[in-house]
Amino acid sequence: MKIDTEGHKFKEGAIQEGLVRWKSPSNIALVKYWGKYGEQLPKNPSISFTLDAAHTITEIDYRPKADDGKLEINFFFEGKPNEAFGQKIEHFLKKHVALFPWVTQLQMTIKSKNSFPHSSGIASSASGMSALVMCLSDIESKHNGEEISLAKASYISRLASGSASRSVFPELAVWGSHNAIEGSSNLYATTYSKEVNPMFTQFHDDIMIISAKEKSVSSTAGHALMNGNIYAENRYMQANQNLMDIIRSMKEGDLEKFGEIVESEALTLHALMMCSTPSYILLEPHTISVINEIRQYRSESKLPLYFTLDAGPNIHLLYPDDIADQISPFIEEVLQPYCVGGKIIKDKVGQGPQNLINE
Ligand code: DP6
Repeated sequence: MKIDTEGHKFKEGAIQEGLVRWKSPSNIALVKYWGKYGEQLPKNPSISFTLDAAHTITEIDYRPKADDGKLEINFFFEGKPNEAFGQKIEHFLKKHVALFPWVTQLQMTIKSKNSFPHSSGIASSASGMSALVMCLSDIESKHNGEEISLAKASYISRLASGSASRSVFPELAVWGSHNAIEGSSNLYATTYSKEVNPMFTQFHDDIMIISAKEKSVSSTAGHALMNGNIYAENRYMQANQNLMDIIRSMKEGDLEKFGEIVESEALTLHALMMCSTPSYILLEPHTISVINEIRQYRSESKLPLYFTLDAGPNIHLLYPDDIADQISPFIEEVLQPYCVGGKIIKDKVGQGPQNLINE
């Protein structure tokens, strides 16, 4: 698919003031993106569940202004002016002004809030950036009369944060080209729900907050460290293989294989951090304790409860809907005490971004 990367200015006098508001979810990678090149391109393909409860709501209140080539943005996060985030957005818009040349024709007030506490350690770039991009795409679509293209929204979200490219699609999304997946691309993500057993579109992801501290090394810095990692090339090969295998396991409804791959992906990601130069560790003692508890419970109960991790210490508990009632006492009694303040965000596979303003 060809993405139109040259936007257009709005016709003078054609812009009216308006308000757009979108909710966009976070996502959890099953096969991880870790390592990039060029302009935000992934070294290997990845696949993720789109989430639901963990999301960002962003609105843009806009009105026309004289086009002096300058941006005029006020940014509020969780109700308060936030200069650091505002500057990040301005930097992004300036860098990619060819995509939205009309931004200098508007005065914009952007307000954003997350469904999860800011200090919960949950990555917010995927939901935050995709929500912003959906708002911008909506403004553009209102003025050029064309429908929002999710492929283009994914392309733009990728430029802001790689994992955000996957958040614009419902249920399952693949980002990164793989010769066994038709239409897959390094430039944008594509939806991948058709060929999976419906059990996977109802999957649970309970996010256990093991630590709410700020990460010591950002994902962006972590990606960069893959460049000198002696295991990098083997890792990219493994990810390609794991993607093929996980897709097959989801088609066949093979939970055991699915679980084996997601857990291996999570531990590989953290192993790569531990053996990069300089080396670093984002896991906490409670992360390891919870992993051991899950594995012991699984071997005793034979129930398909698995875990994954993103680039942090929090555990994502993955399980099919039909065992939810059965495993909830174990989660509450054994696992919850490991969480800060007993905090678990009960999430599920979700349907992607939602327009919150009825037209
Ligand atoms: C471990 O998308 O946060 O969550 O592109 O630099 O913004 P940037 O990185 P980011 O990296 C996510 C890494 C990951 C795996 C994944 O989501 O695939």
